[in-house]
Amino acid sequence: MLTKAGKLGGTALIEHVQNLKPEIKQLTLYPSELCNYRCNFCHIWGDTGWALKEPQRAIREQLDIEVLKKFLDEVTAVNKNLGVLITGGEPMLYKHFTELVEHLRKRKANIFLLTNGSLIKNRIEFIMENIVGMNISIDGPEEFHDAIRGKGSYQKICENIEALIAEKRRRKKRFPFIHITMVLSPSNYLSIKQFMSALRERFSDATIELHNPRNPFGSRRDLSVNLAPLLFTTPERGRAYATQMKHDLDCDVSPAWQGFVEESIPMDTVLLKKELEELWASEGIDSSDYVDIHDYYSDIDNVFGRTKCVAPWHELVIRRTGDVYPCVDLPDYKYGNIYENSFAEMWEGERATRFRDYLQTTNLMMCNRCTRLFADPQSF
Ligand SMILES: C[S@@+](CC[C@H](N)C(=O)[O-])C[C@H]1O[C@@H](n2cnc3c(N)ncnc32)[C@H](O)[C@@H]1O
Ligand code: SF4
Repeated sequence: MLTKAGKLGGTALIEHVQNLKPEIKQLTLYPSELCNYRCNFCHIWGDTGWALKEPQRAIREQLDIEVLKKFLDEVTAVNKNLGVLITGGEPMLYKHFTELVEHLRKRKANIFLLTNGSLIKNRIEFIMENIVGMNISIDGPEEFHDAIRGKGSYQKICENIEALIAEKRRRKKRFPFIHITMVLSPSNYLSIKQFMSALRERFSDATIELHNPRNPFGSRRDLSVNLAPLLFTTPERGRAYATQMKHDLDCDVSPAWQGFVEESIPMDTVLLKKELEELWASEGIDSSDYVDIHDYYSDIDNVFGRTKCVAPWHELVIRRTGDVYPCVDLPDYKYGNIYENSFAEMWEGERATRFRDYLQTTNLMMCNRCTRLFADPQSF
């Protein structure tokens, strides 16, 4: 669940951002965007996503591993404790996935995977030895999940998670942390209580807790479950974003923002709020930090005190084309390309500086419902 801004919110956050110095802490890699699933709400492969319109491009474009390795060497030389999130599409479909992970481990990076969980089985040993955190998407109890992600996928993912938990226990290891993410979309949002019961029934000897942002890496639980609100925009905001980028930053935007557009979101969010409150109470969760879910869905102007995004000071995003961006889901304002530019050229370059300067005073029209606006400065 997303949280409101804590002490570092409102004007304090604005001041904090005005004094920030760039310091790279995290990379997000989309080495390919191939996927074996077609989740209906997905902003890449879903009904309004770009990839089904351009499947050939999605299949063709995968990052050259040698170029990527060279770039990663430059970044890890600057930060010896870099966090690297590998996502996609399905990250394990990247043709150099193993080589990429092994290279990052040699450079002491902490690797996190954002995965649909379908391809874990033959890689259990590899994951145990190399991955710090697995974020696995399950979108509700079996019938809800399968309606979104395909028949049989719930059972397959659960078998994979079971094998992972068993291996962790056999080795008495804390890592990888296993987080389950359920995105709350119109087709599954009323199944949250049922979901927790279904997981506890399926993994009967495992400890399962709702994700606690105050203790994200609690070691006693086997699984933590994050109920994540949908990221979305309105058509008006999306169009205003395109105009803003062109006018203020001379940037022609990609169609990516269109993948987030929801004309309307058919959810009874008052009921969702009630269901969540009941669930949190029954799980003993202090929900005072959480955003009001009804406001989140119904009032896109409300940013819950999260007045500024800090990501451009700490993070870079590398897409399958080699293009490098500050924004995780919007391949629009480009710093450069790893086939042509060094890390230092991009990170310290004129384009990055211009973007950070702009964000110190202005937010983008797409920021309001972006995960990074809700990331805490301390978490980077
Ligand atoms: C794009 S997927 C890539 C990784 C992997 N394929 C997976 O499904 O987890 C990353 C995460 O984004 C979530 N996601 C996709 N579209 C979304 C949207 N419009 N709002 C919120 N989350 C979304 C997915 O459910 C998943 O948890
Ligand atoms: S598995 Fe992930 S990338 Fe693939 S369609 Fe589903 S949400 Fe999108």
